[in-house]
Amino acid sequence: MSIRSSAEWGALESHFASVKDTHLRDLFAADPGRGDTMHAEAGDIYLDYSKNRLTSETLQLLLALAERADLRQHIDDMFSGKKINVTERRAVLHTALRAPRDAVIEVDGHNVVPDVHEVLDRMAAFSERVRTGDWTGATEKRIRNVINIGIGGSDLGPAMAFEALKNFSDRDMTFQYVSNIDGTAFVEATRGLDPAETLFVICSKTFTTLETMTNAHTARNWVVDTLGDAAVEHHFVAASTNSEEVARFGIDTDNMFPFWDWVGGRYSYDSAIGLSLMVAIGPERFGEMLAGFHAMDEHFRTAPFDRNLPVLLGLIGIWYNNFFGAETVSILPYDQYLWRLTSYFQQLDMESDGKSVDRSGDPVDVQTGPIVWGQPGTNGQHAYYQLIHQGTKLIPCDFIGFAKPTHDVGDHHNLLMANYFAQPEALAFGKTREEVEAEGVPDHQVPHRVFRGNHPTNSILVSELTPHTLGQLIALYEHKVFTQGWIWDINSFDQWGVELGKVLANRIIPVLDAAEDPDLDHDSSTNALIRRFRRLR
Ligand code: F6P
Repeated sequence: MSIRSSAEWGALESHFASVKDTHLRDLFAADPGRGDTMHAEAGDIYLDYSKNRLTSETLQLLLALAERADLRQHIDDMFSGKKINVTERRAVLHTALRAPRDAVIEVDGHNVVPDVHEVLDRMAAFSERVRTGDWTGATEKRIRNVINIGIGGSDLGPAMAFEALKNFSDRDMTFQYVSNIDGTAFVEATRGLDPAETLFVICSKTFTTLETMTNAHTARNWVVDTLGDAAVEHHFVAASTNSEEVARFGIDTDNMFPFWDWVGGRYSYDSAIGLSLMVAIGPERFGEMLAGFHAMDEHFRTAPFDRNLPVLLGLIGIWYNNFFGAETVSILPYDQYLWRLTSYFQQLDMESDGKSVDRSGDPVDVQTGPIVWGQPGTNGQHAYYQLIHQGTKLIPCDFIGFAKPTHDVGDHHNLLMANYFAQPEALAFGKTREEVEAEGVPDHQVPHRVFRGNHPTNSILVSELTPHTLGQLIALYEHKVFTQGWIWDINSFDQWGVELGKVLANRIIPVLDAAEDPDLDHDSSTNALIRRFRRLR
């Protein structure tokens, strides 16, 4: 039975009709203490969800929905290695990537935790060799530059985390992330670099992805042109599940760091895919990050749902997505180091929950994953916040801020955080016509300067940005996405939707290269565009 037909969903629908027009101003007036009560905490993360358009009854009804969806059982199934990725018949065990050494997590009767730690140990040994200069290039020059080549989950995770933790990285080295098949990405990343000092980490779960393999071959040529074929083993390592393809590329499989089919690409940066990050920040910091992930995993697995951060975030998201009809969610980190966080969350959420059939293959009868977007504050405030404040759309926002600054420069941090506090306040309470008029605003401007308010936000306040808190934050959102996917009864762990475009691109490649004008058998629009491209090129 679809969740939509459940009594719990029906109860939420009736409740929605009675609260949908209630203003946050009224909710705070009726319960002035809601800012103190509507919060939850886990580890270093404090979540204030009081500025949401919900009451304690809403919350009870949402929690009942989670019970109805048997969420607890499904959480246990994921953590215990059940094959919950039903379409690919795979376990979903990114949580095993950060499990302590003595944990036991079995897939098909095999404990995977020792395998995880064996790879982590190899990564640590390798990272230390690069960081200390013991691992050198073909001419025995020290490695100064690390370039990660990958795309999607094999890029966004390590790239986001490297940027987030840059302050913990070895500043005598450079780290770059090449993903786009546009040759510009490779050319700009290698501009001015000495191949003899450059190490490529080729990251690809499948080791067949067009973009990654094209960039990897270009990198290989770039190294070989200067240093010869024998240099490849000194300048290339790989993270992959496909040792055959790694060997075929010419990388010594001793320099391959494996992971497993139960690690989804967008959940993979704790695995060997994080190698460039480990080289950057060192194994100890990487371990602290994994411990942060694990702490949030344990919270998600064990905390009661009414105090469970990922569950609360997931349920609140469902409230807007499925009852208010909000189409998007904006994630707004108030920290410059997190400038790639929202891109990372886009893949995490939109590739996971962008589905329109349920786990049995039947069309869903509820809205599924939202459109995720945003960029760091305060930049966005001077760009698109206007629409959030005064546009016609309902855009729930997550504000993420840190109590301690990474760099204590003058009064920057207090100014940043004043904005972090002010925006949710302005969004919630707005400014009434009476207030605007009382300010003596000219009549013709009054309607333009009224802020309706009642825009919902979550405020996520973290102690400071460290590897440990980053791990907690990322796991928080991973499990939020899981919570929502289960309640919608979709498989959050496959991504068949990206296939069709890949297949069609492969059909078009030879046509672009053909010497003679090819017979085109696409639709008239695609045919005309290809012809024009061939003429102009
Ligand atoms: O095309 C989508 C996708 O499969 C993502 O899910 C994945 O993260 C990315 O491509 C890269 O895949 P791979 O690691 O196999 O190169």
